[in-house]
Amino acid sequence: MYKKIKKKISASYMVQNYKKILPFVRPYWVRAILAMVITIPVGSMDAVIALLLKPYMDVVLVEKSVSATAYIPVLIIVFSLLQSALNYASTYMNTWVGRKIANDVKIKLFNRLMNFEASFFDEKNSGEVQFRFNADVDTACNGLISNVKLFVTRVVSSVALIAVLFYNSWQLALIALAVMICALYPLTTIRRRIKDIMDKTVFSGAKVVMHFNEAYSGNRVITSYNLKEHLNQKFKETLQSVFTLGIKMVQRTGIMSPLMHFIISIGIALVIWYGSYLIASGAITPGSFVSFIAALLMLYTPLKAMGNNFNSVVNSLMAIERVFELMEAEPKIDNKPEAVKLSGEIKTIEYKNVSFGYNSEKMALKNINLKINSGETVALVGNSGGGKTTIGSLLPRFYDVTSGAITINGVDIKDIDLHSLRDHIAVVFQDNFLFSGTIRENIVLDRADASDEELRFVIKSACLEEFVAELKDGLDSQIGERGVLLSGGQKQRIAIARAFLKNAPIVILDEATSALDNRSEAIVQQAINNLMQNRTVIVIAHRLSTVRNADKIVVVKHGKIVEEGPHEELIEKEDGFYKSLYHSSQLKA
Ligand SMILES: Nc1ncnc2c1ncn2[C@@H]1O[C@H](COP(=O)(O)OP(=O)(O)OP(=O)(O)O)[C@@H](O)[C@H]1O
Ligand SMILES: [Mg+2]
Repeated sequence: MYKKIKKKISASYMVQNYKKILPFVRPYWVRAILAMVITIPVGSMDAVIALLLKPYMDVVLVEKSVSATAYIPVLIIVFSLLQSALNYASTYMNTWVGRKIANDVKIKLFNRLMNFEASFFDEKNSGEVQFRFNADVDTACNGLISNVKLFVTRVVSSVALIAVLFYNSWQLALIALAVMICALYPLTTIRRRIKDIMDKTVFSGAKVVMHFNEAYSGNRVITSYNLKEHLNQKFKETLQSVFTLGIKMVQRTGIMSPLMHFIISIGIALVIWYGSYLIASGAITPGSFVSFIAALLMLYTPLKAMGNNFNSVVNSLMAIERVFELMEAEPKIDNKPEAVKLSGEIKTIEYKNVSFGYNSEKMALKNINLKINSGETVALVGNSGGGKTTIGSLLPRFYDVTSGAITINGVDIKDIDLHSLRDHIAVVFQDNFLFSGTIRENIVLDRADASDEELRFVIKSACLEEFVAELKDGLDSQIGERGVLLSGGQKQRIAIARAFLKNAPIVILDEATSALDNRSEAIVQQAINNLMQNRTVIVIAHRLSTVRNADKIVVVKHGKIVEEGPHEELIEKEDGFYKSLYHSSQLKA
């Protein structure tokens, strides 16, 4: 799944990933650098305190002189105060920068998400999308910033404390340093240890979100089929797998801190043993030794924390890796650089020997040839799963043909600017998505400039007039999430009204297969007839009346066009597929 799987956390791996996020840091670079710079004195102040212990010990405890070191307690207070203030400032600044960057990354990713082709959404589940496009960005950016801050503070603090060690005794410092390197080494193997677990954790995390989505969207099916127990069980299983992964993670990383603790204790023991010998022989003063031990003990805290911190850094690096994998994925359906805008009247639409498969295993369409002239209505009929909807989806390029070509006015649609192509086509789907909000918002969409007059015309043409008039809030009535407060026929008419307002010259109309009651049926039919007037129409028909009105009927069976012609002609055909559809009343009257 991931391209570059490295075994170790190398410096180049870190740089590589941080480099990717750099363009996002750039707009805020002054604050970002300031935030980092502030952490330098914060990190080094522990060392100052350790350093002050030497004169304190040597002058006060050994020489019993008080006046010479009176400044020390004052200095400690002043430094601590400064440290606290800077700490606050850096936390504030880091959060600010981190959130800004996270927002920018999310905006760019959201835009990416909407540019992905239909097949991307066919393959990914909604939980995965939510997880990777949202949660991962938080882990990546917040983790990045706050951990880098902590990391910098701790590194600076460690370096300063190490300087104090060397200042007091280079021999002891060398021992301490050697032990420290041994203690830190295991950290470099963390990524290899947790890589596969992290990948699985992300997958399971996405699955948890998916369960919630399904409990929400599928609540009626769940209730009517009594699926509560069944889904509870599935949810438990997913949570169990998250739990198991969490435990595995601890098994693999939990050993790190104790191991470091043990190695460092050995170091401290060695230093005390050798230090006593150095004091006794007069090589160092007792003050140096105390200052050294203080620095060493202080060093223990940032080092140990760096162990835990490093885990988080690795986590956020891996999240960055996943985020940028999405960021760098090229949409499969995109504008060619030399794409032309579609302009003028639509004269012909032609499917030339078009074959298409959703996947490589099975072709959904085979050698489709179809010509539609300006103003014509072509009705597609056939068996369920035959490929009618698929034929319609290829024209606005929800998917690209596998072979052959579709042309408009003789130009391959792959050479037409995507935005202008889709501007010329209004699609009414079999199952239309409605946004939560009002009826008005769902019809107007982004056409905020639509006039009241235009809107009135659209409402009338889509046969919504009577329905809207009965509502207390009229056009401004809420329709609920996905339009749950509306009936099937009302939802369809809102979708038709949208298409009316778009006023595109080409209409693709996928009639709903779900049965409506007779009255709704008649109203929806009227709205559809209105929409088809004076436009070039591909209608995927399930109603006899729609078919009868068409200029040409195209019969699709198992991905192929098997018959073509007007109703009267097809109905006469011996052993004709259309004839059998007609007589078996698969076309609703
Ligand atoms: N997104 C998809 N991914 C993979 N296969 C798909 C997808 N959509 C449809 N198919 C398959 O492609 C074939 C054609 O489906 P299509 O939706 O075009 O049929 P249809 O003629 O519109 O049927 P209906 O009358 O039931 O709406 C079917 O076998 C279907 O299973
Ligand atoms: Mg269909």
